[in-house]
Amino acid sequence: MNRGKLLLKSFGCQMNKLDSSLVTAALQQAGYELTESVREADVVLINTCSVRGHAEDRVLSNLGHLKHLKKTRPELVVAVIGCMAQRLGNELLRHPAVDLVAGPAQLPQVPDLIARLRDQHEKVLAVTADIRRPVSEADDQSLDRFEQEYDSDANPLPGQAFIRIMRGCNKFCSYCVVPYVRGPEQSRSAGAIVEQARKLADRGIRQVTLLGQTVNSYKHAEGDRTITLVDLIERISRIDGIHWIRFITSHPHPFDERIFRAMADNPKICRYLHIPAQSGSDRILKAMNRGYTADEYIRLIDRARQIVPDLAVAGDFIVGFPGETDEDFELTCELVRQIRYKTCFIFKYSPRPGTRADQKLADSVPEEVKKKRNITLLDLQNQISEQDNPRFIGQSVEIFVEGPSKNPHLNASEIQTLPQLVGRTGSDSIVVFTGPATLAGTFQSVRITKTSALTLFGELISTFKS
Ligand code: 5AD
Ligand code: SF4
Repeated sequence: MNRGKLLLKSFGCQMNKLDSSLVTAALQQAGYELTESVREADVVLINTCSVRGHAEDRVLSNLGHLKHLKKTRPELVVAVIGCMAQRLGNELLRHPAVDLVAGPAQLPQVPDLIARLRDQHEKVLAVTADIRRPVSEADDQSLDRFEQEYDSDANPLPGQAFIRIMRGCNKFCSYCVVPYVRGPEQSRSAGAIVEQARKLADRGIRQVTLLGQTVNSYKHAEGDRTITLVDLIERISRIDGIHWIRFITSHPHPFDERIFRAMADNPKICRYLHIPAQSGSDRILKAMNRGYTADEYIRLIDRARQIVPDLAVAGDFIVGFPGETDEDFELTCELVRQIRYKTCFIFKYSPRPGTRADQKLADSVPEEVKKKRNITLLDLQNQISEQDNPRFIGQSVEIFVEGPSKNPHLNASEIQTLPQLVGRTGSDSIVVFTGPATLAGTFQSVRITKTSALTLFGELISTFKS
């Protein structure tokens, strides 16, 4: 049945992207067709992020436009879902543009709620009342079913799938809103995850990325055994058809070393670790409630590299946390120089209502200083990547091909008649090369001929495995 057109706007992390893909797949199955034009849309679905103020501001600005549009098209349905929906609840529902507000735990209800809205034209609020209480068994099962029912239609890239292995977070880093919008840490059952991975493999998925806010704290009781991340990965790696397994994002404390050994021994486990340090200053790390010192972090990465020498490490940093001095920032730069990350994601501190940092500490670092520190750290990381990437030149690397490259990278003379494709190595380096578009979703071998800070460029050698 044709129910009209759906426009999706999605903000935020991989977890949110997965939520967006699942709910879009469910709405497509319910009869919606996707559109990119707001003028054509019958329903606008905005999946929101609360992690920084900027992400929320962008949603509010979108809602401002939609408010005007609704003056001429009152039948347009606007649904706001995700973290900001959970955080603001009724406040958001009072916005004149908004018809539905639904939190991350209410995702499976969204298609029905939209159907009801289009029928009855009454605003609907569906958020969790007590967000720190674990979801009920019934809700947990409903989320699990939703996850499994729509996952195969929800893959934005051919041959790849994301599998959520846990929800929520218990770490309470002092700056972070996630524990207050995604609730307590809850690991999904290992049996359900392995079954899901098996079904995905049967439908042609070759690479899975396991998702969790602190993915290495995955723990699920199975009889009198506790299944941890490394056990889960080992089980998934026994599935025929699954060739590469990634997991994001790891927390440095505590970290089970067996994961490094599994990475060294098991070729299916990608040698990539996204493990945010957030700061290189012990004073700031303590105020952030991160649970480790800079030295402990460095020792962990050293140990990881002893066991997995070619491990690629990515990190997140927050600059301008309350009270961060020039000396603290210099310690962060020093940590970045010591670790030599493959990639760093750098954010300016943004006070989030309800968090301990916001309640106790003034946002004392001026915006210009945050900006300057952000640029300095980015430049430093760029230099490191520019220095480290040329070691790939002449090497042949195995990549999984994602598809046509969105940005033209190569010179006109280098582009023959074939399209430019983009793929990634197991250690998450982006590789651009020319080849037939039919290679999307397959493993290939590429010889690297040139590098920049962010990208490797190469020539296709041969088909690796399908
Ligand atoms: N301000 C700035 N950055 C933040 N992050 C989380 N909360 C905040 C905040 N309040 C960053 C952290 C985290 C990444 C996902 O977002 O670096 O690892
Ligand atoms: Fe936020 Fe810290 Fe949990 Fe990551 S580990 S989601 S930064 S509270």
